[in-house]
Amino acid sequence: METLTAAIDEAKSIAGVEVTSITLGVSNPSIEGLNSYGIAAVENGEVSMDDVAMAIKTAKAVPMSADTEMLHVLQRDYIVDGQSGVTEPIGMFAVRLESNVHIIAASSRLLQNIRKCVSGCGYQISNVVVEQLASSGATLTDNEKDMGVCLVNLGADSTSFDVFADGGICYTSTLAIGGNSISSDISKVFKLPLEAAESLKLQCGNAASKYLKNPDEKIDIPNALGNAKKRISIQDLSLVIEARVEEIFEHLYSRLEQLGLLDVISSGIVFTGGAAKMKGIVKLAEDMFKLPVRVGGPMEVSGASEVMHNPSYATVVGLLKYAIEHDSGETHIVEDDQKAGPKKKLGSLKGWLSKNF
Ligand SMILES: Nc1ncnc2c1ncn2[C@@H]1O[C@H](COP(=O)(O)OP(=O)(O)OP(=O)(O)O)[C@@H](O)[C@H]1O
Ligand SMILES: [Mg+2]
Repeated sequence: METLTAAIDEAKSIAGVEVTSITLGVSNPSIEGLNSYGIAAVENGEVSMDDVAMAIKTAKAVPMSADTEMLHVLQRDYIVDGQSGVTEPIGMFAVRLESNVHIIAASSRLLQNIRKCVSGCGYQISNVVVEQLASSGATLTDNEKDMGVCLVNLGADSTSFDVFADGGICYTSTLAIGGNSISSDISKVFKLPLEAAESLKLQCGNAASKYLKNPDEKIDIPNALGNAKKRISIQDLSLVIEARVEEIFEHLYSRLEQLGLLDVISSGIVFTGGAAKMKGIVKLAEDMFKLPVRVGGPMEVSGASEVMHNPSYATVVGLLKYAIEHDSGETHIVEDDQKAGPKKKLGSLKGWLSKNF
């Protein structure tokens, strides 16, 4: 709770805003998505909001374990009298309405604990959003979503991903490995304190050993006691990083392959999250997936160029966008200048973002 309070206090003071409620991003291995389908008989020959609500309600009626809470029910498309791919069914003449949805759920115990922590700090939560969804909202283009794309958010302790096809989300999952596993491997292999391993990773890391320009170049690292130096090659460091990144990619590949999704993602893979800044990641992924690969930063953030192309900001900008889009009249961020629009609000947080990510 102390860390959360300190982070929010700092954000408030740097951005010059009052925070009244929180949009929370969650990333956890318990987060999984499933596709569901609902149906409604159209009551009066013309699809109404009530018919849509009924089709969605039946789609939501899926058995779930006791420790599971639905976080998102995302509309993929409607089928109106057998005609699929409909996005706006209201007003259409029909007798039968079907609804395809993607449900994202997480452990309710995890969510209870997070909610308790936030309310203990005196804040109200207005939205809980899974991180890969937030990152997708900030990073992916409509064209990529239509063509099929997988967003992979490489975080500290998790790798979360989702797949879009035909404009809608169709798969969500999370792995319990992230960038911190790489630092921990470096620490163990080269017998370095974790902090030194992390800084070695950030300064000299590269995930694609075969593309190194000077593989034999040596770097001096401190020994475990920090009082003497030893030399390692850039290539040895790269091989350690590569092994862990490959492991993450293999998990991802086998999930996508099993579900037949590799053939669906013609726009390829977009990486976000702090660990997406690792050098060599695009080349390694291109070799493995044989698909187009890019590192994605947030789009549509005016006046903050370092935020725009930085994958570390994808989730947080996505959360801000989500809050603005889903805010039902309730104010999340009360600016001194009440006339500020959403873009200005995003821009005004630039300083705090730069400092914290
Ligand atoms: N330049 C860089 N090169 C390689 N890795 C980096 C770089 N910058 C940050 N990282 C790694 O990115 C990770 C943090 O990423 P991010 O900020 O997205 O995580 P998080 O959102 O806190 O974690 P999670 O999503 O798992 O809850 C850390 O493992 C960090 O070492
Ligand atoms: Mg994250």
